Amino acid sequence: MKRVFSGIQPTGIPHLGNYLGAIRNWVSLQADHECIFCLVDLHAITVWQNPEDLRKQTRQQTAVLLASGIDPVGQILFNQSAVSAHARLAWIFNCVARLGWLNRMTQFKDKAGKDRENHSAGLYVYPNLMAADIMAYKATRVPVGDDQRQHIELANDIAQKFNHDYGVEFFGTIEAFVPPEAARVMSLRDGTKKMSKSDASAQSRIDMTDDADTIALKVRRAKTDPEPLPVSAEGLDGRPEARNLVGLYAVLAGLSVDQVLERHGGDGFGPFKQALTDVLVSRIDPIASETRRLLADTAYLDTVLRDGATRAGTMAEPIVSEVEKIVGFLK
Ligand code: TYM
Repeated sequence: MKRVFSGIQPTGIPHLGNYLGAIRNWVSLQADHECIFCLVDLHAITVWQNPEDLRKQTRQQTAVLLASGIDPVGQILFNQSAVSAHARLAWIFNCVARLGWLNRMTQFKDKAGKDRENHSAGLYVYPNLMAADIMAYKATRVPVGDDQRQHIELANDIAQKFNHDYGVEFFGTIEAFVPPEAARVMSLRDGTKKMSKSDASAQSRIDMTDDADTIALKVRRAKTDPEPLPVSAEGLDGRPEARNLVGLYAVLAGLSVDQVLERHGGDGFGPFKQALTDVLVSRIDPIASETRRLLADTAYLDTVLRDGATRAGTMAEPIVSEVEKIVGFLK
């Protein structure tokens, strides 16, 4: 059985992009994989987090993951900082990865922007920690959205260089598991930007805890163009907002883009947005209400994470200890 690892930053409420690009696939992989899912709080603090908010958001994300169908008993769900193997392996990888590789990471460039000098060193070495997350378990399959592809390639470069430098065949190849559709859900305010927790406008994203009225309002306000929907997929070229909304409807309704346009081609955005709201509410509402129920029981959430961390630690410890031996640390 293949081992799966994936993570999400507890920096806000998971949004529709996180759900369609990642979480939904985590849930389906559980059927025939051994899965380890992680709230990556070490990654979260690469940009400033208020401590109280970080604690709250870690629980909130745990609740959303459970409400989405993550099985904390059959699989492992925990927060990264609770298993020290991640930080230990990340340090070793900081010494394997080359500065030139990190300089090419587009996510760092996007996040740091022009003000590079003022960002944390942690943000720069972020991908090395991500590689450590995966390799501390020798996981081979990593379900992520499209924006994480480059980080997975870097993890493979680190694995290969480690094997080469130390003359071992210790780490195997990691495969990014990116969904064929909804791998990059775009902002509702700008179809050329990805939907993101860090976007200042709450109107740009649908949170997995939004109620029906909030979803309806955000969809109504979503940016569109004045043309009616096209009758075929080619007609979406050059219309990023229309493409995003049609793509969302398709994945939520289980249809192809062409099937959606067979049904709705020629419609104005008014009726289409209503149809989109309906499928969104029917998918998100049960998750949002289960999340609210779970959040009332923080003791349960903390127990889930603690139990997950114990099991994750047991798995990672022999692997990371072996790496430390290979490197030459006296044990
Ligand atoms: P994070 O917290 O930014 O996002 C969690 C997951 O959601 C996906 N995602 C999206 N998918 C489609 N459309 C979007 N607009 C969208 N926005 C986010 C992300 O691709 C991701 O799969 N670095 C990771 C967390 C991480 C990790 C790991 C992942 C840490 N260690 C090891 C895999 C393996 C991140 O910041 O995800």
